[in-house]
Amino acid sequence: MSDMPPPPSVPSTPPTPNSPSASTPVWDAQPPAPAMVAQLAGLGLTAQVDDAIVRTTEATKRYGPLVAVNAVNLAVPRGSIYGLIGPNGAGKTTLMTMVASLLLPTSGSIEIDGSDPAENTDEARRKLGYMPDGLGVYDGLDVGGYLEFFAAAYRIPSSDWPVLIDGLLELVQLEVKRDSPVNSLSRGMKQRLSLARALVHDPELLILDEPASGLDPRARVELRELLWQLQSLGKTIIVSSHILSELQEIVTHVGIMEAGRLLAEGSPDEIGSKLGAVRRVKVRFADGSSETFDLTSTADQVALLHRLVVDDEREVVEFREVNAGLEDVFMNVTKGIVQ
Ligand SMILES: Nc1ncnc2c1ncn2[C@@H]1O[C@H](COP(=O)(O)OP(=O)(O)OP(=O)(O)O)[C@@H](O)[C@H]1O
Ligand SMILES: [Mg+2]
Repeated sequence: MSDMPPPPSVPSTPPTPNSPSASTPVWDAQPPAPAMVAQLAGLGLTAQVDDAIVRTTEATKRYGPLVAVNAVNLAVPRGSIYGLIGPNGAGKTTLMTMVASLLLPTSGSIEIDGSDPAENTDEARRKLGYMPDGLGVYDGLDVGGYLEFFAAAYRIPSSDWPVLIDGLLELVQLEVKRDSPVNSLSRGMKQRLSLARALVHDPELLILDEPASGLDPRARVELRELLWQLQSLGKTIIVSSHILSELQEIVTHVGIMEAGRLLAEGSPDEIGSKLGAVRRVKVRFADGSSETFDLTSTADQVALLHRLVVDDEREVVEFREVNAGLEDVFMNVTKGIVQ
């Protein structure tokens, strides 16, 4: 691979089996959920963000009559881990693909660090790493060669590749697969390779579409730790999932989507308290008894623990959130609308 000429410009991410394309047939459209949208519109669930690395203004993507992304105003704070949550068909991939500059909005605008990725595409692509929801097929490339391909595409000098690729493979724990054909990797390994690829050019912003799907429980825990590590390196991460509980522990911000709409946005606590989410905490004491408390915020949880242990001098042996409070919010906010 080392003699492979770099491409003329920073390339677009190659097509994946799931990438939207204009040739895909148009789906039957159903109207969005006006009642729900109206109900939520009054709640003031849009976040005020001063330093947003990504901002969309009324971003819309239509496929014929279907509005895949419907007037979305998204603000992703710099340095955040932003979870985009929504059921199948909510528009997450479409929105992320537009932010990644791989798809043009039908109307509305997108800014990355204040500039439009459609106009300043090379600049945007240098800043962002996109992990699509599928890896595509790379016949004949081994894992090392695959990363070299992308390193070349981003015009990283070939003398830097060995150290870079060693580091990336170590980060995603694929060192032992360096010489294996990409197509021989398991699904979870392909996910990890895809993440390594998104990091090749050390982008500030990572856009990860369903990175946890197909991962075993241990790999999910490792992914979480990896995302924390990347955030601590100063990166902003947008990560999508169907399952809020999967992201609940790591996200600093959440956007809930359904039927093309961004229904709520903010920190988990903000969203939770605005929608009256209950954080149910189960406390077990040394004498074997247990009690359950319904709270509305992390601050309340801290206060409760302090009261029990310090004020009441009770011997707490377990203090655990038993139901994913935000999961309830998600179920309340989304109505299972498929369009
Ligand atoms: N190229 C396309 N042509 C027509 N419709 C499309 C195209 N791409 C996406 N859609 C439609 O847009 C809507 C949003 O799709 P999208 O893939 O963005 O959803 P998603 O939230 O990522 O779903 P999932 O959780 O299943 O990945 C769906 O109704 C989908 O069928
Ligand atoms: Mg998707």
